[in-house]
Amino acid sequence: MKGIILAGGAGSRLYPLTLVASKQLQPVYDKPMIYHPLTTLIEGGIREICLVSTPHDLPRFRQLLGDGSRMGISIEYREQAKPEGIAQAFLIAESFIGNDAVALILGDNIFHGADFASAFGHFERGATIFGYQVLDPERYGVVEFDGSGKAVSIEEKPATPKSNHAVPGLYIHDNDVVAIAKNLKPSARGELEITAVNMEYLTRGTLRVEKLHRGMAWLDAGTSTSLHEASAYVQTIEKRTGIKVGCPEEAAYRRGFLSISQFEEIANAMPRCEYRSYLQCVIEQVGRAS
Ligand code: DAU
Repeated sequence: MKGIILAGGAGSRLYPLTLVASKQLQPVYDKPMIYHPLTTLIEGGIREICLVSTPHDLPRFRQLLGDGSRMGISIEYREQAKPEGIAQAFLIAESFIGNDAVALILGDNIFHGADFASAFGHFERGATIFGYQVLDPERYGVVEFDGSGKAVSIEEKPATPKSNHAVPGLYIHDNDVVAIAKNLKPSARGELEITAVNMEYLTRGTLRVEKLHRGMAWLDAGTSTSLHEASAYVQTIEKRTGIKVGCPEEAAYRRGFLSISQFEEIANAMPRCEYRSYLQCVIEQVGRAS
């Protein structure tokens, strides 16, 4: 399975922060936001990744992440000239997707405590999306379930939500998604909607909606308030446990994408900083355990 990180958009809700650096490069406590979706894909075992962003911001992402080989993965870059919808990512990344299935994650979505390895690894066909209980479902795509727990509708930002289960920005689709995206018409707000893609799978009877368990956290960091809350969350967990949230180098090592010596090389190449000390602690711990 391949992975796409969608990290474009105007970032207007975070203005003026986004005047010089895009939303997904803003710090969530101690790391750039993009580290979180990147870590989610790596933890789930995906090592071929395409990052889609604006022509203006792509050079910064390249500077930050390079071709991914440092982390034992590959990262390709594609431009989205204008923010014409989340589903446009499938068209932009068509040649990257090739004949594979694909997991698309939004660059401002943060997942903690969820394990997507089996959702990615055991995926065969159709689409898998997720449902997460929130207090303010009207801000999101909302999935409605029937009495037997089967998904029966998805609505984008409904005024009167039919459930309190929002659809987080992580979507798994089979290769039909490219053809489905090609057939979409722009919505009233002029976008190729991801909800329309998922509705098509629902109509075909091949959409699976997995409810995320309530102990995990799904945060989006798209507004000043949610960005601050996400930072506070990450700081709280890191301070309590001593374990970093959203550390792609550690995830790549634990996934077996990096050998211990490659992992050590990454840490040693960093300037003396708290992030480097953390990686060195992990290296010591795994050294002691083996
Ligand atoms: O966060 C989950 C929600 O994301 C879902 O529940 C909704 O169904 C889905 O439509 C989306 O809603 P948002 O209102 O959060 O979408 P937004 O337009 O803010 O875009 C989400 C991210 O994707 C944002 O970081 C910018 C990026 N993006 C968005 C569009 C429309 C792009 O890179 N290009 C685009 O064309």
